[in-house]
Amino acid sequence: MKNLLKEYGSPLYVYNYKVLKDRCNQIANFKNNLEKSLSGIKVSMHYSTKANNNPAILKVVKESGLSVDCMSPLELSLNEKCGFSKENMLYVCNNIDENEMKLVHDKGLLICLDSISQVDTWGKLFPNTDIMVRINPGTAGVGHSEKVITSGKSTKFGVSEENIPELLNIAKKYNINIIGIHQHLGSLFLDDKISNYIAGVKSGLRIVKEYFKNISIIDLGGGFGVPYMPGEKPLNFDLVEQDLAEVLKDFCNEYPTIKEFKFEPGRFIPCEAGKLVGTVTAVKHENGKWWIGTDIGMNQLVRPSMYDSYHEVHIISDNTEKVIANVCGNVCESGDILAKDRELILPSVGDIIVVDNAGAYGYSMASNYTGRCRPAEVMIKNNQHYLIRKRETLDYLEANIVWNN
Ligand SMILES: Cc1ncc(COP(=O)(O)O)c(C=O)c1O
Repeated sequence: MKNLLKEYGSPLYVYNYKVLKDRCNQIANFKNNLEKSLSGIKVSMHYSTKANNNPAILKVVKESGLSVDCMSPLELSLNEKCGFSKENMLYVCNNIDENEMKLVHDKGLLICLDSISQVDTWGKLFPNTDIMVRINPGTAGVGHSEKVITSGKSTKFGVSEENIPELLNIAKKYNINIIGIHQHLGSLFLDDKISNYIAGVKSGLRIVKEYFKNISIIDLGGGFGVPYMPGEKPLNFDLVEQDLAEVLKDFCNEYPTIKEFKFEPGRFIPCEAGKLVGTVTAVKHENGKWWIGTDIGMNQLVRPSMYDSYHEVHIISDNTEKVIANVCGNVCESGDILAKDRELILPSVGDIIVVDNAGAYGYSMASNYTGRCRPAEVMIKNNQHYLIRKRETLDYLEANIVWNN
């Protein structure tokens, strides 16, 4: 790790190709098994680009036979450049403006709109077209934090059951054909929440049966979790597949126009392949507590301060003494804490710190807060490492400033 930091600078996102490829294969197997169980119905896996949009990751997704979803013009452009066809891309969006709708329409992607208001805007622009609509199935949802639970009474997403008659009226007004229904219950469930996930799926399917005619696509979103905490077990896809197949088979028997089920796994694919590596910049003992200062601030990995998320951290040091410490970054905010009350080697300034499970919602949520450059990203494949995104520079950060006014 020290060599990598020397070559590419600190901090640094490092991805392991083998782990990434393995997770893609797991999703591809899940797809194949589900397709076998649902004989005759297509199953598509659209990697959710928001988890990590680096083209080196997208290319592994593509070579594994998976599709993608995108949620912004940049994600669309990157997917296109990585060779995904419009049939393999899905635009799943939220509160977008007319220009963005025009872009999606011109590119010929299927769009998934998530409110009656957005369907109205689309209908005015593009009557007589096919769309998908996101519903809110109304169940409690699943997710690692309130902020990523996207079903139930307090979410901003989707059309809830009571408003579906109005949705159908608006669609009729513009002769819009709703060919697909989408739902996403939230981000991150493991085995203990499979039953909640299935309850949410059943709830959505009931709404489809009750209100919609001739739907051919059902998209059940993402949420497939990975273990972050010590002792947590990987998600058992056989169990998910078993429970899902039963529910989906029953549904298909009662709803014969269904041709395809889509899923949108995000986190599961790159999360465990990525580590964020940084440098210890200060060590202090204040008010009875050890503090390990590093160059990994909340701008480089926001999950701990945004969601109170747990990431395993490791110190690489010649020291051996262990202490209970808080690990923090270099941003001037009290909330800039990467790990709380961890038993760690007491490092010296200059030692290395490694953060696990940083491949998803790591770089893609990183920012320039307090004017810091986002790190470089590096891939390791067959024991070789190569740059997949350069570290930002101060010139890059200043490029859009208008000085002469
Ligand atoms: C609409 C939609 N689909 C898919 C995903 C991916 O979810 P996850 O990374 O939990 O698989 C998200 C992320 O929350 C999302 O908002």
